[in-house]
Amino acid sequence: LIRQTGIHVAIIMDGNGRWAQSRGLPRHAGHRAGAAAVRRVVEDAPTLGISTLSLFAFSSDNWKRPAPEVNTLMHLLERFLRTEVATCVEKGVRIEIIGRRDRLSERLANAMDAAERSTACGTVLRLRIAVDYSSRDAIVQAASCGATSREELEKNLPQSCLNVDLLVRTGGEKRLSDFLLWESAYAELYFTDVRWPDFDGDALRAAVNEFALRQRRFGALPGDARPARVAS
Ligand code: IPE
Ligand code: IPE
Ligand code: MG
Repeated sequence: LIRQTGIHVAIIMDGNGRWAQSRGLPRHAGHRAGAAAVRRVVEDAPTLGISTLSLFAFSSDNWKRPAPEVNTLMHLLERFLRTEVATCVEKGVRIEIIGRRDRLSERLANAMDAAERSTACGTVLRLRIAVDYSSRDAIVQAASCGATSREELEKNLPQSCLNVDLLVRTGGEKRLSDFLLWESAYAELYFTDVRWPDFDGDALRAAVNEFALRQRRFGALPGDARPARVAS
């Protein structure tokens, strides 16, 4: 049975710091502008056939950054969650946070819980935000829950392991930086030099259009391939 569902797009939102530096601004200005880009992309995603959007907001390795920058990022996240909830409810966007929560401030963890609870009924777009997230940690965690079958292991992965259809990285680097490794086994990869704060609806449309032209084979021969827009 082939189920025609929307696509799952994952984005590694990179290039905030360089965006700011190239304008003679401090790095935190780039993160602020990056938060505005998140708003635009969340608004445009449903119009492009995206039903799930996974955004890499803060990696477990980002703790290595100076405390003031980490604080700015956490503050922006909390503000985003608190200010966007009403719009998300109105637009049918369901917020889910993936990653560790035990190293976050109580304020932020509470904001996450509240955002998830308030938006739980959304059916238009599933917005997954990865915070203190490491894909390797998630896999190790799932494996150490005592799973004895692959199905069980997949069930233990965050939000039951959603296959990524299209993985986008902005900012010019061509690497995964520990984001959704398992889920991206057959993801189409799309790298753009556009820095995250400059990413907008048109940039997202360009990525989705290229994805639609890719031929996905999942190991089979071309004739047997499922069309790109069909999520597995
Ligand atoms: C992405 O932008 C945001 C996070 C990683 C939290 P960067 O801050 O990595 O920006 P660059 O890569 O230094 O330009
Ligand atoms: C990946 O970007 C993490 C996020 C976008 C949140 P980084 O800027 O941290 O990745 P590296 O260090 O260039 O691999
Ligand atoms: Mg970076």
